[in-house]
Formats: sequence, C-alpha cells, structure tokens
Amino acid sequence: MDPDQLPALETDRLRLRAPTAEDVDFIANLYARPEVARFIGDGRTERTREQALARIERYRSFAGATTGVWLASCAVDGEPRGIMLLKPIPVSADVDPEPQPEIEIGWHLHPDAQGRGYAAEAAEALVEHARTVGLETLVAVAHPENRASHRVAERIGMAHRGTTDRYYGTTVELFTLEL
Ligand SMILES: CC(C)(COP(=O)(O)OP(=O)(O)OC[C@H]1O[C@@H](n2cnc3c(N)ncnc32)[C@H](O)[C@@H]1OP(=O)(O)O)[C@@H](O)C(=O)NCCC(=O)NCCS
Repeated sequence: MDPDQLPALETDRLRLRAPTAEDVDFIANLYARPEVARFIGDGRTERTREQALARIERYRSFAGATTGVWLASCAVDGEPRGIMLLKPIPVSADVDPEPQPEIEIGWHLHPDAQGRGYAAEAAEALVEHARTVGLETLVAVAHPENRASHRVAERIGMAHRGTTDRYYGTTVELFTLEL
C-alpha cells in the first residue's frame, strides 16, 4: 500500500496518520530519549537524522491492509506526541511462525506526552481499525519491567498471558486481545 493511503484515525485528543520525512525532527528526538529507547529493540538510543529518516522509511513500509505505523499528533495544536504500531511480530529463531503472521500492537510516546492516557486512547483507535479490517487477534509484548506498557495493554482490554520467549529472541510479558 502507498503509505500516504494509510487510513487516518482519530480520537478525542489525537489525530493519527502515516509519518513522513517532514517528521524527522520529532522522530529523531523521540528515539534519542533513553527512557523511550530503553524498552524498545536493543535499548540503544538513535541520535542521528539519518537513523530517524531510515526509521520513518521503515515505518512507512508497514502500511498495508491490516498493518501500519501512525504518527499521533495533538488534535488541538498538531504537535506530534508519539508513534503507534500495528505490524507483524518477529518470532524468535527457534520458533515456527504461524501461517498467518501474528500482528502486534505497540506504542512509543514522547516523554513530554506520557502520563496522560494518550497511549491507551490511541491504542483504542488502532484496535477499532484492526477490527474493521478483519483481524481476529492482536498481541502486545513488553519488557517485564515496563509497567506503564503493561497497564496500557490492560487498559485496552488485553489479557495477560504471562512471560514468553516466543518473540524477539528474548523474554517478554505477553498480552493478547481477541477482536
Ligand atoms: C508505555 C507508554 C506508551 C505509556 O504511555 P502513557 O500514555 O504515558 O500511559 P498512561 O499515561 O496511559 O499510563 C498507563 C498506566 O501506566 C501507569 N504507569 C505509568 N508509568 C508507570 C510506571 N513507571 N510504573 C508503573 N505504572 C506506570 C499509569 O499510572 C497508568 O495506569 P492506570 O491505567 O492504572 O491509570 C509510554 O510510557 C512510553 O511510550 N514509554 C516509552 C516507550 C515504550 O516503552 N513503549 C512500549 C514498548 S513495549
């Protein structure tokens, strides 16, 4: 799918759309924050404009019928607040993947925007979108210490399934939602 055709989503306080290269300053700032990078991927911050542009391209490439990565901005002032994701979740090296890729829901909020319930609010819009496009199940995974992320998953009605080594080659807390 052309990333610019990714359906726009909205909530009471947020507007969600595909990120573009024009969002590079925000994306660079977001992933340069240790408190954001800590529980994402290898935990290392990204500090260069090139890394941010590469991330935007990667995120745009997820645009699809049942997947996508959205930039969430404030409905009032248009300021970017974070990134929301629906994407195939990578399984660990020794795991047989399902015939249909499992779709992960994820949330990366800027520290200035955290603590105000934005992640759960935006996640509800992604869940609704996932239902609309016919997905049957969503998974979310989080570092065992990432309590805020666990709470977001619980707030949107996901069931906590305990810890698993099935994804990302590491041990994570697993949450699932039947749509
Ligand atoms: C995880 C994250 C998206 C939460 O977003 P948020 O909009 O700040 O979340 P909320 O304000 O809705 O808070 C969610 C819940 O977590 C709780 N919480 C927040 N920080 C917490 C902490 N450090 N320890 C325990 N609970 C915490 C809040 O009290 C709230 O609980 P409630 O639902 O009972 O009221 C945000 O912290 C973030 O982007 N972190 C960095 C990136 C990241 O780790 N992403 C997830 C990777 S799996």
